Amino acid sequence: MSIQSACYENPVIRPILTYPEPGLKEVASEVPEIDGALVRTIDDMVETMYAAPGVGLAAPQIGLSQRVIVLDVDHENKGKHLLKIVNPVLAEHEGEILWEEGCLSVRDYVAEVRRAARVLVRGYTPDQKEIAIEGTDLLAVALQHEIDHLDGKLFIDRISRLKRDLYRRRLKKLERDGREPTTGSLL
Ligand code: CO
Repeated sequence: MSIQSACYENPVIRPILTYPEPGLKEVASEVPEIDGALVRTIDDMVETMYAAPGVGLAAPQIGLSQRVIVLDVDHENKGKHLLKIVNPVLAEHEGEILWEEGCLSVRDYVAEVRRAARVLVRGYTPDQKEIAIEGTDLLAVALQHEIDHLDGKLFIDRISRLKRDLYRRRLKKLERDGREPTTGSLL
């Protein structure tokens, strides 16, 4: 292996944008073509997700406004159930589930969010194969949470206004105290 290819292929941990960064509110664009640069960026996203650690990450969280998500809900068997999905679309959803969510882009806060209990997501792999992923429980929640990121939505947009205002106040206080808040278990 040449030095050059080693430089190219080592995934990099990227900084994760946090609320209220305006980029997190943007609707991400569809990926028109999967090229080598995007494939490397997706590997960076995977590295960043594992390092955080989180069970999912969407491209807008690293400042890339494109429709790409990565997920791994099973960190015990890291990589075994790793998903990299380009242009994911929520094709089917049914039922209802209440799940306590956190987010790598929302510091120091978790809240129960109502989601569909089962989803079917269609999209493409980085090597341009069509895929359909069926998810229940945490996988269903994570798929919906990450697709929300592509639509400029955070889980705090899905909770009551009262709770959201409480979070905003708490975040201000944390910043005033000069403490860098920690993050919990996250999507
Ligand atoms: Co998130």
